Amino acid sequence: MSTTRELQDEIRKLKQEKDICILAHAYQSHDILEVADYIGDSYGLSEKAAAAPQKTVLMCGVRFMAETVKILSPEKKVLLSHSEADCPMARQLDVEQVQALKAKYPGYAVVAYINTTADLKTVSDVCVTSASAVKIVRNMKEKNILFIPDCNLGAWVAKQVPEKKIQLVQGGCPVHAAITKQEALAARKKYPGAELLVHPECVADVVEMADYIGSTTGIMNYAKNSDHQEFIIGTENSIIQHLQFECPDKRFYPLSKHLVCRDMKLTTLADVYHCVKGDTGEEITLSDEVRLAAKKCLDAMLELG
Ligand code: 13P
Ligand code: SF4
Repeated sequence: MSTTRELQDEIRKLKQEKDICILAHAYQSHDILEVADYIGDSYGLSEKAAAAPQKTVLMCGVRFMAETVKILSPEKKVLLSHSEADCPMARQLDVEQVQALKAKYPGYAVVAYINTTADLKTVSDVCVTSASAVKIVRNMKEKNILFIPDCNLGAWVAKQVPEKKIQLVQGGCPVHAAITKQEALAARKKYPGAELLVHPECVADVVEMADYIGSTTGIMNYAKNSDHQEFIIGTENSIIQHLQFECPDKRFYPLSKHLVCRDMKLTTLADVYHCVKGDTGEEITLSDEVRLAAKKCLDAMLELG
């Protein structure tokens, strides 16, 4: 039986030998982050995906993130760390439903959260991430916007960009959107000296109570740089552990014990080992038609963001 350290050393050796870049979303477990070449939020990951010099990219995250890498870097071999790791929000709408919405709102630009399938991106105009959505929507020339599929993120953007007319649709992250105002009030009461840091995928009632609202990277940077000592973390609970390693003297508390994304938690360090060894990992393939149509809205994101 090997230790975590031995497995990590083997992964580091193999990825070097085989010219593999490991990208890890911040919701992955800490032992995986320690072997990654880059850790970040969805926006940071997509920028790195386009720039990584390695020939193979292993995405430790969920399917839409691996698809994003393939769309931006078709010449690379792109592996998804666990073939069942899929963001449920990415499939809340299908192409036909978006076409029907476009017919209902003619002339509206379709802004798609990056947490969407490659197919959905083919019928969208611009992608956004939680870190870039406000800036991108503000920079768009169109006034009328159809925002899919996260109505909570969309509502948060609409509040900050009142000059745009933003049409929301029903959808969102089942993990973040399940957190209630009552839970936020209870956490505030339990930790009165702590700042509340919240992801914009939470419902408006929770977002309105926050001291800081931002992407996973935004939340981590805020907590690291703040003079405060205690924080209630309103996003996936893995962030608490990462922050505790970064700032051992600060205290981090979960906003809710239910803030756990099962899909993000599927990948284990052993999966990463088997992927770099070449035993497992799903290779992402996309038709040229889908890839090129989806690329337009990711290029627009990188340009406007
Ligand atoms: P970030 O862009 O903040 O990393 O969000 C991705 C995600 O899936 C949040 O639930
Ligand atoms: Fe999708 Fe929510 Fe999980 Fe993020 S936390 S991957 S949005 S289900």
